[in-house]
Amino acid sequence: MNVYDGRRVESMLEGMGYARTDDAADADVIVLNTCAVRAKATDKVFSELGRIRKKKKPGAIFGIMGCVAREAGADAFRKIPGLNFALGPQQYHKLSLVLENPDARSLCVDLSGLEKFDELPKMASSELIAYMPVQEGCDHCCAYCIVPYVRGPELSRPFDAVMDDVRRAADMGAIEICFLGQNVNEYDNKGRRLSDLIIETAKMGAVKRIRYTSSYPAEMKDELIALHAAEPKLLPFLNLPIQSGSPDVLRRMNRPYKVEDYYDIVARLRAARPGIQISSDFIVGFPGETDEDFERTCKVAKDIGYINSYTFKYSKRPHTSAAMMPDQVPEKIKSERLKILDDIVGENTRAFNESCIGKTLDCLLDGKNYRTPFMQQVVVGERGADYVRIKITDGNKCSLRGKICESI
Ligand code: 5AD
Ligand code: SF4
Repeated sequence: MNVYDGRRVESMLEGMGYARTDDAADADVIVLNTCAVRAKATDKVFSELGRIRKKKKPGAIFGIMGCVAREAGADAFRKIPGLNFALGPQQYHKLSLVLENPDARSLCVDLSGLEKFDELPKMASSELIAYMPVQEGCDHCCAYCIVPYVRGPELSRPFDAVMDDVRRAADMGAIEICFLGQNVNEYDNKGRRLSDLIIETAKMGAVKRIRYTSSYPAEMKDELIALHAAEPKLLPFLNLPIQSGSPDVLRRMNRPYKVEDYYDIVARLRAARPGIQISSDFIVGFPGETDEDFERTCKVAKDIGYINSYTFKYSKRPHTSAAMMPDQVPEKIKSERLKILDDIVGENTRAFNESCIGKTLDCLLDGKNYRTPFMQQVVVGERGADYVRIKITDGNKCSLRGKICESI
């Protein structure tokens, strides 16, 4: 989501006559896009702002956009003297106004919903992988999560507006469309669902691959699962965050689904699309998590055989109910549990990557390397065309190596 937001703002600034630089000391305007989901990310923003303040040229305008702007509010200006602006996740489009009056110390952190999508100028180019946000915000109130506070309630963008953006991206060279939302499988615009977006997108000849992230497990409806059988352009890879394998922890996290239901959803996905691979997000050390709770999480990680996962130590966040819960888990135990879980997930990743050796996979260029249909990174000797067939020659825990056979 932040990659997409950053690109939109970059595109807007280019339209205003600015050009990109990688050197902060050379910039006239510096915008730091930020994430507030864990405390570490927020802390990094402020240490980085301190560094930028020292490094930037005198008179250069600098500020933050994104979730930390909303989390910190006016505190951002108290913490960083000279900061010119703080724009919340739904206020990026105000950047052009802010730049007209940089000394005003503009604080725009209201939740104005979907306004930014209409206000920002359309993208002037597309990457091969086009991120397509279909929602803003989240209506779940997972006890640990700051997202509903910083991004507001869940709103689905109009179907036609999303499809216009998809068409534009495809016309400008996108080969893969990745639909984005906090709970993308809950997308609902006047009865039109994520499956309708996928069906419509799959009709475009230029689009070869479609995926979506991230999904709320309990909302994997039959029609979406069936689409994994019917639509070959839908990649055989899905991020389905379970967060914990303990029913007790899930209940206290306010994620009211059963572990058995989750297994059932995965089984139905595998029946619909044999060979489909799953990844998850996990939080270890949620308040009150016992050794037995954690063992249950490890069991799920082994049983499901995720090919990769995002694993996090629980981080106490403002505006969340878990921050007030008793029995916060000591940092040392969180670190130990994270290491154990990472080893399990890493072992799965290594085993899956090794199982790919000798196979030929359709891969799409993503930066310097290629991506398989399971989103593994493939390193090749010499770069070829954008979309190619690669024979996998080697694989380890981190990535694959391969030889390009032909372009597709
Ligand atoms: N602490 C640790 N991880 C968190 N996440 C969300 N909030 C927290 C938190 N307070 C993780 C969840 C989510 C991912 C985007 O970030 O696993 O799926
Ligand atoms: Fe956060 Fe839960 Fe919403 Fe995901 S579903 S953004 S974890 S509140």
